[in-house]
Amino acid sequence: MNHTGSELPGDVAGQRPFILSSSCPASFELTESGACSLVTRYQFYDSVQQRGVGGTQTALPKHRSGFTAQQIDLGRYLFFDPLLSQDGSLSCAGCHHPELGFSDGLGRSIGIGKEPTGRGAPSLWNMTFLTSFFWDARADSLEQQARGPLYDKKEMANTPAQLLASIRSNAYYPEMFAQAFPGLDGPTLEQLYSALAAFQSSLISLNSRYDQYAHGFHQALTADEVAGLNVFRSFVARCAECHQPPLFTNNQVAVIGTPEPDGLPFDSGAEKTFNSAKLRGGFKVPSLRNISKTAPYMHSGRFKRLRDAVAFYNKGRGHAVPKNEQLQLHWHIREPKLTDEEMDRLVDFLGALTDESLLPQIPQVLPSGLKPVQSLPVAETAGEQKVLATETVATITTSNVTINQGN
Ligand code: HEC
Ligand code: HEC
Repeated sequence: MNHTGSELPGDVAGQRPFILSSSCPASFELTESGACSLVTRYQFYDSVQQRGVGGTQTALPKHRSGFTAQQIDLGRYLFFDPLLSQDGSLSCAGCHHPELGFSDGLGRSIGIGKEPTGRGAPSLWNMTFLTSFFWDARADSLEQQARGPLYDKKEMANTPAQLLASIRSNAYYPEMFAQAFPGLDGPTLEQLYSALAAFQSSLISLNSRYDQYAHGFHQALTADEVAGLNVFRSFVARCAECHQPPLFTNNQVAVIGTPEPDGLPFDSGAEKTFNSAKLRGGFKVPSLRNISKTAPYMHSGRFKRLRDAVAFYNKGRGHAVPKNEQLQLHWHIREPKLTDEEMDRLVDFLGALTDESLLPQIPQVLPSGLKPVQSLPVAETAGEQKVLATETVATITTSNVTINQGN
Protein backbone atom coordinates (compact mmCIF):
# COMPACT_ATOMS: atom_id res chain seq x y z
CA MET A 1 0.00 0.00 0.00
CA ASN A 2 1.24 3.48 -0.72
CA HIS A 3 1.62 6.43 1.66
CA THR A 4 2.38 4.35 4.68
CA GLY A 5 3.92 6.51 7.32
CA SER A 6 4.35 5.15 10.81
CA GLU A 7 1.23 5.98 12.74
CA LEU A 8 1.87 4.94 16.29
CA PRO A 9 0.38 7.30 18.83
CA GLY A 10 3.12 9.16 20.66
CA ASP A 11 3.20 7.38 23.93
CA VAL A 12 6.70 5.96 23.78
CA ALA A 13 8.94 8.41 25.58
CA GLY A 14 11.86 9.65 23.53
CA GLN A 15 10.65 8.22 20.24
CA ARG A 16 9.47 10.15 17.26
CA PRO A 17 5.82 9.21 17.03
CA PHE A 18 5.18 10.22 13.43
CA ILE A 19 7.91 9.07 11.07
CA LEU A 20 7.07 10.27 7.60
CA SER A 21 7.28 7.75 4.80
CA SER A 22 10.52 7.75 2.86
CA SER A 23 9.02 5.72 -0.01
CA CYS A 24 7.36 7.36 -2.96
CA PRO A 25 3.69 6.53 -3.58
CA ALA A 26 2.89 3.83 -6.12
CA SER A 27 3.44 4.99 -9.71
CA PHE A 28 6.24 7.33 -8.57
CA GLU A 29 9.96 6.58 -8.66
CA LEU A 30 12.59 7.97 -6.31
CA THR A 31 15.09 10.01 -8.33
CA GLU A 32 18.71 10.67 -7.47
CA SER A 33 17.83 14.14 -6.26
CA GLY A 34 15.55 12.52 -3.67
CA ALA A 35 12.29 13.63 -5.31
CA CYS A 36 9.43 11.39 -6.36
CA SER A 37 8.97 11.34 -10.12
CA LEU A 38 5.76 10.24 -11.83
CA VAL A 39 5.95 7.31 -14.21
CA THR A 40 3.15 6.85 -16.75
CA ARG A 41 2.92 5.22 -20.14
CA TYR A 42 1.62 8.46 -21.60
CA GLN A 43 5.04 10.06 -21.34
CA PHE A 44 6.12 7.95 -24.31
CA TYR A 45 3.50 9.48 -26.60
CA ASP A 46 3.71 12.68 -28.63
CA SER A 47 1.92 15.84 -27.63
CA VAL A 48 -1.59 16.69 -28.76
CA GLN A 49 -0.15 19.23 -31.18
CA GLN A 50 1.44 16.47 -33.21
CA ARG A 51 -1.39 13.98 -33.04
CA GLY A 52 -4.58 16.03 -33.24
CA VAL A 53 -7.28 16.30 -30.64
CA GLY A 54 -9.04 13.23 -29.34
CA GLY A 55 -6.45 10.61 -30.24
CA THR A 56 -5.92 7.96 -27.61
CA GLN A 57 -2.12 7.95 -27.68
CA THR A 58 -1.34 11.56 -26.92
CA ALA A 59 0.97 12.84 -24.20
CA LEU A 60 -0.20 14.35 -20.94
CA PRO A 61 0.40 18.03 -20.30
CA LYS A 62 3.35 19.06 -18.09
CA HIS A 63 2.99 18.34 -14.40
CA ARG A 64 4.29 19.47 -11.03
CA SER A 65 7.28 17.51 -9.81
CA GLY A 66 10.13 17.68 -7.34
CA PHE A 67 8.28 16.81 -4.14
CA THR A 68 9.89 14.33 -1.75
CA ALA A 69 8.20 11.32 -0.19
CA GLN A 70 8.24 13.04 3.21
CA GLN A 71 6.60 16.18 1.83
CA ILE A 72 3.86 14.09 0.23
CA ASP A 73 3.31 12.20 3.48
CA LEU A 74 3.23 15.37 5.59
CA GLY A 75 0.64 16.75 3.18
CA ARG A 76 -1.43 13.63 3.69
CA TYR A 77 -1.61 14.24 7.45
CA LEU A 78 -2.42 17.91 6.95
CA PHE A 79 -5.08 17.16 4.35
CA PHE A 80 -7.01 14.94 6.74
CA ASP A 81 -6.46 17.06 9.87
CA PRO A 82 -9.36 19.28 11.03
CA LEU A 83 -6.76 21.21 13.06
CA LEU A 84 -6.43 23.32 9.93
CA SER A 85 -9.90 24.80 10.42
CA GLN A 86 -10.78 27.60 12.82
CA ASP A 87 -12.71 25.38 15.27
CA GLY A 88 -11.09 22.01 14.56
CA SER A 89 -14.25 20.66 12.95
CA LEU A 90 -13.41 20.39 9.25
CA SER A 91 -10.47 19.07 7.24
CA CYS A 92 -9.84 19.39 3.53
CA ALA A 93 -11.09 15.81 3.28
CA GLY A 94 -14.40 16.88 4.83
CA CYS A 95 -15.26 18.36 1.42
CA HIS A 96 -12.86 16.30 -0.69
CA HIS A 97 -13.50 12.81 0.57
CA PRO A 98 -11.50 9.95 -0.94
CA GLU A 99 -14.61 7.77 -1.02
CA LEU A 100 -16.50 10.34 -3.07
CA GLY A 101 -13.88 10.91 -5.77
CA PHE A 102 -12.33 13.58 -3.52
CA SER A 103 -15.58 15.51 -3.72
CA ASP A 104 -18.50 15.61 -1.28
CA GLY A 105 -21.65 14.51 -3.04
CA LEU A 106 -23.18 17.97 -2.62
CA GLY A 107 -24.23 20.53 -5.23
CA ARG A 108 -22.65 23.25 -3.10
CA SER A 109 -20.20 22.37 -0.34
CA ILE A 110 -20.90 23.15 3.30
CA GLY A 111 -18.27 24.81 5.49
CA ILE A 112 -17.80 25.03 9.25
CA GLY A 113 -20.76 27.41 9.66
CA LYS A 114 -23.01 24.76 8.09
CA GLU A 115 -23.92 27.27 5.37
CA PRO A 116 -23.63 26.25 1.74
CA THR A 117 -20.72 27.87 -0.11
CA GLY A 118 -21.17 29.22 -3.63
CA ARG A 119 -20.09 26.17 -5.61
CA GLY A 120 -19.45 22.44 -5.57
CA ALA A 121 -16.18 20.77 -4.56
CA PRO A 122 -14.30 19.50 -7.64
CA SER A 123 -12.56 16.15 -7.60
CA LEU A 124 -8.85 16.35 -6.71
CA TRP A 125 -7.59 13.53 -8.91
CA ASN A 126 -4.78 14.50 -11.30
CA MET A 127 -4.35 18.04 -9.89
CA THR A 128 -0.67 17.75 -10.79
CA PHE A 129 -1.51 18.40 -14.47
CA LEU A 130 -3.64 21.51 -13.95
CA THR A 131 -2.48 25.05 -14.52
CA SER A 132 -5.39 26.89 -12.92
CA PHE A 133 -7.61 26.11 -9.96
CA PHE A 134 -11.20 26.75 -8.86
CA TRP A 135 -14.18 26.67 -11.22
CA ASP A 136 -13.40 30.25 -12.26
CA ALA A 137 -9.63 29.61 -12.64
CA ARG A 138 -8.78 32.29 -10.08
CA ALA A 139 -5.73 30.52 -8.57
CA ASP A 140 -2.71 29.57 -10.62
CA SER A 141 -1.02 27.16 -8.25
CA LEU A 142 -2.06 24.63 -5.64
CA GLU A 143 -0.20 26.67 -3.04
CA GLN A 144 -2.24 29.75 -3.86
CA GLN A 145 -5.42 27.69 -4.04
CA ALA A 146 -5.04 26.33 -0.49
CA ARG A 147 -5.37 29.82 1.01
CA GLY A 148 -8.91 29.94 -0.37
CA PRO A 149 -10.61 27.27 1.76
CA LEU A 150 -8.30 27.77 4.76
CA TYR A 151 -9.20 31.41 5.27
CA ASP A 152 -12.65 31.67 3.68
CA LYS A 153 -15.24 32.48 6.39
CA LYS A 154 -17.69 30.06 4.77
CA GLU A 155 -15.19 27.19 4.52
CA MET A 156 -12.51 26.53 7.17
CA ALA A 157 -12.58 30.13 8.49
CA ASN A 158 -9.06 30.08 9.92
CA THR A 159 -6.58 32.98 9.98
CA PRO A 160 -2.91 32.69 8.97
CA ALA A 161 -1.82 33.63 12.51
CA GLN A 162 -4.04 31.08 14.25
CA LEU A 163 -3.15 28.34 11.77
CA LEU A 164 0.57 28.89 12.19
CA ALA A 165 0.23 29.01 15.97
CA SER A 166 -1.71 25.75 16.12
CA ILE A 167 0.84 23.97 13.92
CA ARG A 168 3.81 25.36 15.87
CA SER A 169 2.35 24.56 19.29
CA ASN A 170 1.35 21.03 18.29
CA ALA A 171 3.34 18.25 19.94
CA TYR A 172 4.26 16.54 16.65
CA TYR A 173 3.96 18.82 13.63
CA PRO A 174 7.18 20.84 14.16
CA GLU A 175 9.21 17.63 14.08
CA MET A 176 7.29 16.36 11.05
CA PHE A 177 7.88 19.63 9.17
CA ALA A 178 11.59 19.23 9.98
CA GLN A 179 11.54 15.75 8.42
CA ALA A 180 9.82 17.10 5.29
CA PHE A 181 11.87 20.29 4.98
CA PRO A 182 15.25 19.35 6.44
CA GLY A 183 17.67 22.17 7.18
CA LEU A 184 15.02 24.88 6.83
CA ASP A 185 13.45 26.98 9.56
CA GLY A 186 9.87 26.04 10.20
CA PRO A 187 7.10 25.22 10.38
CA THR A 188 6.02 28.01 8.05
CA LEU A 189 2.76 28.52 6.21
CA GLU A 190 4.64 28.30 2.90
CA GLN A 191 5.80 24.82 3.91
CA LEU A 192 2.25 23.87 4.84
CA TYR A 193 0.89 24.98 1.43
CA SER A 194 3.76 23.19 -0.25
CA ALA A 195 3.10 19.91 1.60
CA LEU A 196 -0.60 20.08 0.71
CA ALA A 197 0.41 20.63 -2.93
CA ALA A 198 2.81 17.68 -2.72
CA PHE A 199 0.09 15.36 -1.42
CA GLN A 200 -2.44 16.49 -4.00
CA SER A 201 0.14 16.06 -6.77
CA SER A 202 0.35 12.40 -5.79
CA LEU A 203 -3.33 11.70 -6.50
CA ILE A 204 -3.01 10.05 -9.88
CA SER A 205 -5.79 8.33 -11.77
CA LEU A 206 -4.53 7.16 -15.15
CA ASN A 207 -5.21 3.47 -15.14
CA SER A 208 -8.88 3.17 -15.94
CA ARG A 209 -10.21 0.65 -18.42
CA TYR A 210 -10.16 3.51 -20.91
CA ASP A 211 -6.38 3.87 -20.37
CA GLN A 212 -5.81 0.17 -20.90
CA TYR A 213 -7.71 0.51 -24.16
CA ALA A 214 -5.67 3.58 -25.11
CA HIS A 215 -2.45 1.66 -24.50
CA GLY A 216 -3.57 -0.99 -26.96
CA PHE A 217 -5.54 -3.53 -24.92
CA HIS A 218 -8.71 -3.25 -26.93
CA GLN A 219 -10.73 -5.78 -24.97
CA ALA A 220 -10.62 -3.45 -21.97
CA LEU A 221 -13.71 -1.61 -23.21
CA THR A 222 -17.06 -3.16 -24.06
CA ALA A 223 -18.58 -2.59 -27.48
CA ASP A 224 -21.02 -0.08 -25.95
CA GLU A 225 -18.17 1.85 -24.34
CA VAL A 226 -16.21 1.96 -27.60
CA ALA A 227 -19.35 3.23 -29.31
CA GLY A 228 -19.54 5.92 -26.63
CA LEU A 229 -15.88 6.85 -27.09
CA ASN A 230 -16.53 7.28 -30.80
CA VAL A 231 -19.45 9.62 -30.14
CA PHE A 232 -17.34 11.45 -27.56
CA ARG A 233 -14.61 12.28 -29.99
CA SER A 234 -16.81 12.76 -33.06
CA PHE A 235 -17.09 16.17 -34.67
CA VAL A 236 -20.83 15.97 -34.08
CA ALA A 237 -20.66 15.75 -30.30
CA ARG A 238 -17.30 17.58 -29.96
CA CYS A 239 -16.83 16.54 -26.32
CA ALA A 240 -13.12 15.79 -26.85
CA GLU A 241 -12.45 19.30 -28.15
CA CYS A 242 -12.71 20.55 -24.57
CA HIS A 243 -12.53 17.34 -22.52
CA GLN A 244 -9.33 16.39 -24.32
CA PRO A 245 -7.84 12.94 -23.67
CA PRO A 246 -5.83 11.77 -21.88
CA LEU A 247 -6.65 14.25 -19.11
CA PHE A 248 -10.19 14.88 -20.35
CA THR A 249 -9.72 18.61 -19.97
CA ASN A 250 -7.83 21.09 -22.15
CA ASN A 251 -7.03 23.23 -19.08
CA GLN A 252 -9.10 26.09 -20.47
CA VAL A 253 -12.14 28.10 -19.48
CA ALA A 254 -15.25 27.83 -21.67
CA VAL A 255 -18.68 29.45 -21.64
CA ILE A 256 -21.18 26.67 -22.18
CA GLY A 257 -24.31 28.16 -20.59
CA THR A 258 -25.02 25.71 -17.76
CA PRO A 259 -28.01 26.53 -15.57
CA GLU A 260 -27.98 27.10 -11.80
CA PRO A 261 -30.11 24.96 -9.53
CA ASP A 262 -33.61 26.51 -9.17
CA GLY A 263 -33.62 29.68 -7.13
CA LEU A 264 -29.89 30.36 -7.23
CA PRO A 265 -28.64 33.56 -8.88
CA PHE A 266 -26.62 33.45 -12.10
CA ASP A 267 -22.90 32.77 -11.44
CA SER A 268 -20.71 35.06 -13.55
CA GLY A 269 -17.80 32.61 -13.25
CA ALA A 270 -14.51 33.54 -14.89
CA GLU A 271 -15.65 37.01 -15.98
CA LYS A 272 -14.33 38.41 -12.72
CA THR A 273 -11.06 36.45 -12.78
CA PHE A 274 -10.03 37.73 -16.18
CA ASN A 275 -11.99 40.98 -16.06
CA SER A 276 -13.46 40.00 -19.40
CA ALA A 277 -17.13 40.21 -20.36
CA LYS A 278 -16.49 37.48 -22.95
CA LEU A 279 -15.93 35.02 -20.12
CA ARG A 280 -19.14 35.86 -18.28
CA GLY A 281 -20.61 32.52 -17.22
CA GLY A 282 -17.36 30.75 -18.14
CA PHE A 283 -15.98 27.89 -16.09
CA LYS A 284 -12.90 25.75 -16.17
CA VAL A 285 -13.35 22.63 -18.27
CA PRO A 286 -13.38 19.88 -15.62
CA SER A 287 -11.58 16.61 -16.15
CA LEU A 288 -14.03 13.75 -16.55
CA ARG A 289 -11.86 11.17 -14.81
CA ASN A 290 -13.67 9.33 -12.01
CA ILE A 291 -16.73 11.28 -13.09
CA SER A 292 -19.11 8.51 -12.05
CA LYS A 293 -17.99 9.14 -8.42
CA THR A 294 -18.61 12.87 -8.24
CA ALA A 295 -22.32 13.52 -8.75
CA PRO A 296 -23.99 15.99 -8.76
CA TYR A 297 -22.51 17.71 -11.81
CA MET A 298 -21.42 21.19 -12.97
CA HIS A 299 -20.15 24.09 -10.83
CA SER A 300 -23.17 24.16 -8.54
CA GLY A 301 -24.50 20.67 -8.98
CA ARG A 302 -27.47 21.36 -11.21
CA PHE A 303 -27.49 17.83 -12.65
CA LYS A 304 -27.89 14.86 -10.33
CA ARG A 305 -27.13 12.19 -12.89
CA LEU A 306 -24.49 11.85 -15.55
CA ARG A 307 -27.23 11.24 -18.11
CA ASP A 308 -28.74 14.68 -17.32
CA ALA A 309 -25.34 16.37 -17.70
CA VAL A 310 -24.89 14.69 -21.09
CA ALA A 311 -28.44 15.56 -22.18
CA PHE A 312 -27.72 19.22 -21.39
CA TYR A 313 -25.43 19.39 -24.44
CA ASN A 314 -28.18 18.04 -26.66
CA LYS A 315 -30.89 20.51 -25.77
CA GLY A 316 -29.70 23.31 -28.00
CA ARG A 317 -27.05 25.98 -27.80
CA GLY A 318 -27.87 28.45 -25.02
CA HIS A 319 -31.18 26.81 -24.09
CA ALA A 320 -30.56 27.28 -20.35
CA VAL A 321 -29.14 30.83 -20.44
CA PRO A 322 -31.29 33.27 -18.43
CA LYS A 323 -33.27 35.64 -20.69
CA ASN A 324 -31.47 38.75 -19.45
CA GLU A 325 -27.97 37.36 -20.10
CA GLN A 326 -26.08 37.69 -23.40
CA LEU A 327 -23.38 35.05 -23.08
CA GLN A 328 -20.66 34.49 -25.65
CA LEU A 329 -21.06 30.74 -25.88
CA HIS A 330 -18.09 28.69 -27.05
CA TRP A 331 -18.25 27.75 -30.73
CA HIS A 332 -18.03 24.04 -29.96
CA ILE A 333 -21.33 24.27 -28.11
CA ARG A 334 -24.03 23.51 -30.68
CA GLU A 335 -26.96 21.15 -30.98
CA PRO A 336 -25.47 17.79 -31.87
CA LYS A 337 -28.92 16.08 -32.13
CA LEU A 338 -27.65 12.89 -30.56
CA THR A 339 -30.11 10.03 -30.31
CA ASP A 340 -31.12 8.66 -26.90
CA GLU A 341 -28.99 5.67 -27.70
CA GLU A 342 -25.92 7.76 -28.45
CA MET A 343 -26.37 9.59 -25.14
CA ASP A 344 -26.64 6.26 -23.33
CA ARG A 345 -23.39 5.16 -24.97
CA LEU A 346 -21.69 8.40 -23.87
CA VAL A 347 -22.71 7.62 -20.31
CA ASP A 348 -21.38 4.06 -20.71
CA PHE A 349 -18.09 5.44 -21.92
CA LEU A 350 -17.77 7.99 -19.09
CA GLY A 351 -18.18 5.09 -16.67
CA ALA A 352 -15.00 3.55 -18.07
CA LEU A 353 -12.94 6.54 -16.85
CA THR A 354 -12.91 5.27 -13.27
CA ASP A 355 -9.61 4.37 -11.62
CA GLU A 356 -9.13 4.62 -7.87
CA SER A 357 -6.29 2.15 -7.60
CA LEU A 358 -3.96 4.75 -6.06
CA LEU A 359 -6.27 5.89 -3.27
CA PRO A 360 -4.13 7.16 -0.40
CA GLN A 361 -4.45 5.68 3.04
CA ILE A 362 -6.47 7.80 5.46
CA PRO A 363 -4.26 8.32 8.55
CA GLN A 364 -5.67 6.47 11.53
CA VAL A 365 -4.18 8.81 14.07
CA LEU A 366 -3.50 12.47 13.49
CA PRO A 367 -0.91 14.71 15.15
CA SER A 368 -3.78 16.83 16.53
CA GLY A 369 -5.53 13.81 18.04
CA LEU A 370 -8.69 14.89 16.18
CA LYS A 371 -10.72 12.53 14.02
CA PRO A 372 -9.20 12.26 10.53
CA VAL A 373 -12.48 12.51 8.67
CA GLN A 374 -15.37 14.10 10.43
CA SER A 375 -18.83 12.76 9.69
CA LEU A 376 -18.95 11.91 6.04
CA PRO A 377 -20.84 14.38 3.93
CA VAL A 378 -24.33 13.14 3.16
CA ALA A 379 -24.46 12.61 -0.56
CA GLU A 380 -27.45 14.37 -2.15
CA THR A 381 -27.48 11.59 -4.63
CA ALA A 382 -27.24 8.82 -2.03
CA GLY A 383 -29.00 5.75 -3.27
CA GLU A 384 -27.97 6.47 -6.83
CA GLN A 385 -24.33 5.94 -6.12
CA LYS A 386 -22.33 3.53 -4.04
CA VAL A 387 -23.38 3.63 -0.41
CA LEU A 388 -20.49 4.92 1.65
CA ALA A 389 -18.43 2.30 3.37
CA THR A 390 -18.40 4.19 6.67
CA GLU A 391 -17.28 1.11 8.52
CA THR A 392 -13.87 1.34 6.91
CA VAL A 393 -13.28 4.84 8.24
CA ALA A 394 -11.20 4.91 11.38
CA THR A 395 -12.95 6.49 14.34
CA ILE A 396 -10.85 7.85 17.12
CA THR A 397 -11.78 9.37 20.43
CA THR A 398 -9.21 11.88 21.58
CA SER A 399 -9.72 11.41 25.31
CA ASN A 400 -8.60 7.85 25.35
CA VAL A 401 -7.03 7.00 22.03
CA THR A 402 -9.03 4.01 20.87
CA ILE A 403 -8.78 3.02 17.29
CA ASN A 404 -11.66 1.36 15.56
CA GLN A 405 -10.72 0.20 12.12
CA GLY A 406 -14.09 -1.36 11.41
CA ASN A 407 -13.35 -4.60 9.62
C1 HEC B 1 -16.15 23.69 2.75
C2 HEC B 1 -15.70 22.64 1.83
C3 HEC B 1 -14.26 22.68 1.38
C4 HEC B 1 -13.12 22.53 2.13
C5 HEC B 1 -13.04 22.37 3.64
C6 HEC B 1 -12.02 22.52 1.21
N1 HEC B 1 -12.48 22.65 -0.07
FE1 HEC B 1 -11.37 22.60 -1.74
N2 HEC B 1 -12.95 23.20 -2.80
C7 HEC B 1 -14.23 23.35 -2.32
C8 HEC B 1 -15.04 24.02 -3.32
C9 HEC B 1 -16.52 24.37 -3.17
C10 HEC B 1 -14.21 24.29 -4.41
C11 HEC B 1 -14.59 25.04 -5.69
C12 HEC B 1 -14.67 26.52 -5.31
C13 HEC B 1 -14.72 27.46 -6.48
O1 HEC B 1 -14.41 27.04 -7.59
O2 HEC B 1 -15.03 28.65 -6.31
C14 HEC B 1 -12.90 23.74 -4.06
C15 HEC B 1 -11.80 23.75 -4.92
C16 HEC B 1 -10.59 23.14 -4.60
C17 HEC B 1 -9.49 22.95 -5.53
C18 HEC B 1 -9.49 23.34 -7.01
C19 HEC B 1 -9.76 22.14 -7.88
C20 HEC B 1 -9.89 22.50 -9.33
O3 HEC B 1 -10.12 21.59 -10.15
O4 HEC B 1 -9.79 23.67 -9.70
C21 HEC B 1 -8.47 22.35 -4.84
C22 HEC B 1 -7.11 21.95 -5.38
C23 HEC B 1 -8.93 22.19 -3.47
N3 HEC B 1 -10.22 22.66 -3.38
C24 HEC B 1 -8.15 21.69 -2.44
C25 HEC B 1 -8.50 21.86 -1.10
C26 HEC B 1 -7.56 21.75 0.01
C27 HEC B 1 -6.09 21.44 -0.10
C28 HEC B 1 -8.29 21.98 1.15
C29 HEC B 1 -7.78 22.06 2.58
C30 HEC B 1 -6.80 23.09 2.84
C31 HEC B 1 -9.66 22.22 0.73
N4 HEC B 1 -9.74 22.16 -0.63
C32 HEC B 1 -10.71 22.42 1.60
C33 HEC B 1 -14.67 22.94 -1.10
C34 HEC B 1 -13.84 22.77 -0.01
C1 HEC C 1 -16.79 24.13 -25.27
C2 HEC C 1 -16.15 23.19 -24.36
C3 HEC C 1 -16.95 21.95 -23.95
C4 HEC C 1 -17.49 20.99 -24.76
C5 HEC C 1 -17.49 20.93 -26.28
C6 HEC C 1 -18.06 19.99 -23.88
N1 HEC C 1 -17.88 20.36 -22.57
FE1 HEC C 1 -18.45 19.31 -20.95
N2 HEC C 1 -17.90 20.86 -19.74
C7 HEC C 1 -17.32 22.03 -20.17
C8 HEC C 1 -17.29 22.99 -19.08
C9 HEC C 1 -16.74 24.40 -19.13
C10 HEC C 1 -17.89 22.35 -17.98
C11 HEC C 1 -18.17 22.96 -16.59
C12 HEC C 1 -19.40 23.85 -16.72
C13 HEC C 1 -20.03 24.28 -15.42
O1 HEC C 1 -19.66 23.80 -14.37
O2 HEC C 1 -20.96 25.10 -15.47
C14 HEC C 1 -18.25 21.01 -18.43
C15 HEC C 1 -18.81 20.03 -17.62
C16 HEC C 1 -19.10 18.73 -18.03
C17 HEC C 1 -19.56 17.68 -17.16
C18 HEC C 1 -19.71 17.79 -15.64
C19 HEC C 1 -18.36 17.64 -14.97
C20 HEC C 1 -18.36 17.83 -13.49
O3 HEC C 1 -17.31 17.58 -12.87
O4 HEC C 1 -19.36 18.25 -12.90
C21 HEC C 1 -19.75 16.58 -17.93
C22 HEC C 1 -20.22 15.21 -17.47
C23 HEC C 1 -19.44 16.95 -19.30
N3 HEC C 1 -19.04 18.27 -19.31
C24 HEC C 1 -19.53 16.09 -20.39
C25 HEC C 1 -19.43 16.54 -21.71
C26 HEC C 1 -19.85 15.76 -22.86
C27 HEC C 1 -20.40 14.35 -22.79
C28 HEC C 1 -19.65 16.54 -23.96
C29 HEC C 1 -20.00 16.25 -25.39
C30 HEC C 1 -21.40 16.01 -25.66
C31 HEC C 1 -19.09 17.80 -23.49
N4 HEC C 1 -18.98 17.76 -22.13
C32 HEC C 1 -18.70 18.84 -24.31
C33 HEC C 1 -16.84 22.27 -21.44
C34 HEC C 1 -17.22 21.56 -22.57
